Order: sequence, then structure tokens, then C-alpha cells
Amino acid sequence: MDTLKELDNTYLFQNYGRQDLAFTHGCGEYLYDGAGKEYLDMVAGIAVNSLGHAHPAMTAAICDQASRLIHVSNLYRIKEQAELAEALVNVSPDGLEKVLFVNSGAEANEAALKLAVRHTGRGKVIAVENSFHGRTAAALKITAQAKYQEGFGCLMGEFAEYVSLNDIESLKTAFDKDTAAMIIEPIQGEGGIRPCDKEFFQAARDLCDDNGSLLICDEVQTGMGRTGEWFGFQHYDVVPDVISLAKGMGGGFPIGCIISSDEVSKTLSPGTHGTTFGGSPLASAVALAVLRTIESEGLVKSAATKGKTMMDSLKGLLGEEVRDVRGAGLMIGMEMASKSHDLQKHALEKGVLLNVCAGNVVRMVPPLNVSPSSMKKVSDIIKAFMEDI
Ligand SMILES: Cc1ncc(COP(=O)(O)O)c(C=O)c1O
Repeated sequence: MDTLKELDNTYLFQNYGRQDLAFTHGCGEYLYDGAGKEYLDMVAGIAVNSLGHAHPAMTAAICDQASRLIHVSNLYRIKEQAELAEALVNVSPDGLEKVLFVNSGAEANEAALKLAVRHTGRGKVIAVENSFHGRTAAALKITAQAKYQEGFGCLMGEFAEYVSLNDIESLKTAFDKDTAAMIIEPIQGEGGIRPCDKEFFQAARDLCDDNGSLLICDEVQTGMGRTGEWFGFQHYDVVPDVISLAKGMGGGFPIGCIISSDEVSKTLSPGTHGTTFGGSPLASAVALAVLRTIESEGLVKSAATKGKTMMDSLKGLLGEEVRDVRGAGLMIGMEMASKSHDLQKHALEKGVLLNVCAGNVVRMVPPLNVSPSSMKKVSDIIKAFMEDI
């Protein structure tokens, strides 16, 4: 087998629309291919590599922990897991005080849903149109986009009701006494970097309170400093009952979790939920190193300032082609009329990786420790592209 392309085509499920690009190593916000070409990574594994590539703190945590203990069952106490839980609770607002670890974002949302229906004894979950919560069965049902659900109907229960983003009237109509929970992304990620209005988020909180339902905030993409706050909901003066995290939490090492109040957490008594790998010593040690580094390098604050500078500069391009620039911190979306893929291709030629989501939205979710000069380089490339078209 000569080329990676042939190997891929021959032996792998072809379920990803992959670019014909492969990387051999990375350093900071840069990736390198086999020919040594450098790429500025504004994708970061889709908001995953929060510390960029090969950060020494992550490498040290992986090597150190792997040399001692990689995995033990959740049948035993796990020091690294308990310490990570403490650190997560310490950066969370009051009321979010108990953690359950899983391995991915979809799994975190499945756990949140199980927690909510069991806690309330109810059978309905409200989700927002154009959302993305993962590909497993229940997470897929609350992913209110036909393109992801098509062909999998029989696997999904009839427990969800969808409302339009930022439509408070449809929210009011959807809530009733059978509503176990409402799940919401503070800024829709896969849906095209679409922020919730403050009034909508706050109405969701009030309606949950009025109806005895839980507010679940999906922080899988927005969490761990990405938006310039530890959590996306902190832009809204609202505290959810449950949050789900994954992606940036492990900086590239697979780990996720849900966080809830102590009282709500008690719903999942021994045996009611679990996972073999969730919160393993290795995953927990790495995620703790990531969290500590985000803290020690001041990356939450700097995400806010670097993102604002970039967004202010991109907003200067608003017009017929650049229809909107939105997001928060280092979660930036630039909606284009028709040239998003041309821009992506142009940036790649210049050695910059961009992602296009939701059809025509150029998404930028670089490592949180990206340098201001790299950010400027990207906005300069985008500006030059716009001048030439
Ligand atoms: C908001 C949100 N929730 C859940 C998921 C699913 O996470 P995972 O792919 O780790 O299952 C994603 C993935 O893109 C996401 O953006």
C-alpha cells in the first residue's frame, strides 16, 4: 500500500469528509506535515487542543502518570479523579458541586439526560433547533438537525420537543409539567457559532424554575475558557443545574464530565450509571494539568482579549460577502455569502487551517494559548483574500 490515501480508502469506514492532509507532529499553535510544511492551526481538533500541540505540561502529565498507573476500575477510589473533580468545582459557580466523569461530549450529554429524567421522574426534554449534542442515540435525538438524524429514527426515543433559538414564545409553549429538562448550548457550535440571546437563556432558567425542570447547559464546545469565561453560561448571569463538558477539557486526551448540585447528583445512586474508562487516572491527571495550565497561564482572560481583537478586525469586513461575525473569546464564526470554502482553500495555501461549519460559516477555534501575532496573521490573510475577490 503506497499512500496514506490508499490505506485510508481501503481499510477505514469512509464516514468523514476528510481533507487530503496529514500531520506528523505539532508544537504550540502549529502543525507540521511529512514534508515539514508548517500550518497555523485555527481548528485545534475542533476546539479540543486548548493548550495547542505538545504542551510540556501535558506531555509531562501523560508520561509521569502513564509510568505509574494508567487505568483502574471505578470500583476503587481514584486520587487523580477526585483531585480533578475538586479543581473543576473550584472554577464552577456555587451550586455546581459534584462531578461524574465520562469519555466524550455525547456521553456527557447522555449522562445529563439520564440524570434529568431520573431526577424528575418525567419524560420530556426540550432542545433547540440547529443544536448539536452528539451522535449517540439520545444525544442525537436532542441534536435538532435532520441531516444528523436521518436513517436513525428507530434508535431514538420520542422524548424531545424542539424550539427555535431565541424564540421565547415557542419556549413558553413547550414547557409543561412533564418537562424533565431543557438542554441548551450558550453558543451553538456545529450549528454555526450562533449565540443565545441573554433574554432567551434567562427565560429558559425561569421556565425551568417555574416547572420544576432542570436546565442543562452543553458546554462541550464552549467550556474550559474557550469563550473568555470558564463556561459559556457565565456570559448570561444564569447558573444551570447541570453542565456537560468534554473537548477542551482534556486538551486532546479523551475525557468528559457532567457537573451538578450535590442534591441532583444523588439521583444516580450506585449502579444506576457508569462507564469503564470515565475518569481514569491517566485521563484525569492530564485534564488536571490542562486546567492548572489554563489557570497559571491566564488563558481564560487572554482568550477574551485575543478573540475580541480578532472579531473587531473581522467586523470591518462586514458587507455583501461577509454577512456576520459572531461568537465570544476564541470561538469565532464568520458567516459568508458564498466564498467560505474558497477562503478555507486560500488560507490553506498560506499555511493556515480554517474550518467551515453549518454550510457557510468560517469557524476559528484556535488553541487558547495562540499568540496575538498568529491571530493577526490570520485576520491579515482573511482581509487580503477579501480585497482580492
Ligand atoms: C456542543 C457539543 N456537544 C456535544 C458534542 C459531541 O461531542 P463528542 O464528539 O465528544 O461526542 C459536540 C461535538 O462537536 C459539541 O460541539
